[in-house]
Amino acid sequence: MSRTAQEFHELYGYPAEGVWAAPGRVNLIGEHTDYNDGFVLPFALPQRTEVAAARRTDGTIALHSDGAPSGVVTLTLAELGPGHPPQGPDGWAAYPAGVFWALRDAGLPVGGADLHIRSDVPAGAGLSSSAALEVATALALADLYELPLTRPELAAFARRAENAYVGVPCGAMDQMASACAIEGHALRLDTRSLEQRHIPFDCASAGLSLLVIDTRVKHALGDGAYARRLASCHQAAAALGVRALRDIPYGELEQALARLADPVGRRRVRHVVTENERVRRMEELLAAGRLRETGPLLTEGHLSLRDDYEVSCPELDLAVATADAAGAHGSRMTGGGFGGSALALVDADAQQAVADAVTEAFRRAGHTPPRITAAAPSAGAARLR
Ligand code: GLA
Repeated sequence: MSRTAQEFHELYGYPAEGVWAAPGRVNLIGEHTDYNDGFVLPFALPQRTEVAAARRTDGTIALHSDGAPSGVVTLTLAELGPGHPPQGPDGWAAYPAGVFWALRDAGLPVGGADLHIRSDVPAGAGLSSSAALEVATALALADLYELPLTRPELAAFARRAENAYVGVPCGAMDQMASACAIEGHALRLDTRSLEQRHIPFDCASAGLSLLVIDTRVKHALGDGAYARRLASCHQAAAALGVRALRDIPYGELEQALARLADPVGRRRVRHVVTENERVRRMEELLAAGRLRETGPLLTEGHLSLRDDYEVSCPELDLAVATADAAGAHGSRMTGGGFGGSALALVDADAQQAVADAVTEAFRRAGHTPPRITAAAPSAGAARLR
């Protein structure tokens, strides 16, 4: 029996009906493009969130998380509503509760359940721990209540939970990556049509490794800066007379910028349009098997996020500059920014030297020691038993 199943049994006094898992993600490139109908290229991490669950017939939802000190959070189906998500120390419970709400709000026959959650996706590290929790919950409920939903549909319900119930206006990337990714591949997603392409991404056989550098600066997407970026992009699109910034072709960027009066808006637009172009160039290099040459695109993307989009922070900038100076082919912040993680593309035999250099630079700057791991593209959500 898995540890999650065993803990469920001990907690609730009877065996779970099954265990489901969904991974966190890193985004290789395509940052802050998903709410502009643009392109993204994330892959799933080996770290994942497991949910052991069983149905209940009394209209009650019981939620327990291994990482939370708050004990079992209990609510009834009747009191689920986007106005009253669990707050305070039980704030984590809003993510799974939001999934129950989103499915039921669409008229799907989902009843109560007991859930026990265990996760090794670090929270607040920009690695989509919330999407992992939402997608694992959505998959569990879909199986338990025999809902005929596709992976992209499950991801859409998970995102709706986050947007409308938790109140974070995130785009489609994180939940789609967690629900749909496959091992050994990055997921190239068109966030307008939701067309997906699985692109082989095998660093190891190219003698390369991708380091994920968790700066330990907790990012919070709910604090308003993310929503302000989104609003300025939507304003700029309206001013330019396009449905979304994705509709500004790279070749027409300069003309578009010349039509915008606000210098901040111009910088935001320049990031989004050049970032979509970087996704396209990354795809080309990956298709040609030229993995090593993708490094400069990563660093270029970071500078754009730092200077034009202004979502980096000193720790992320230090991680990127130090990794590049220590021999990385390129590196960048990944995810929403304002903290969280960076990734660095390095030769496999330079991993330790780059990691040591970043750790030493953080020590000298007086920052909390970073957590550095190597990541390989892993499988998306699945039923474990
Ligand atoms: C967060 C959001 C995503 C995406 C990224 C930035 O991770 O959840 O939808 O917008 O930021 O690329």
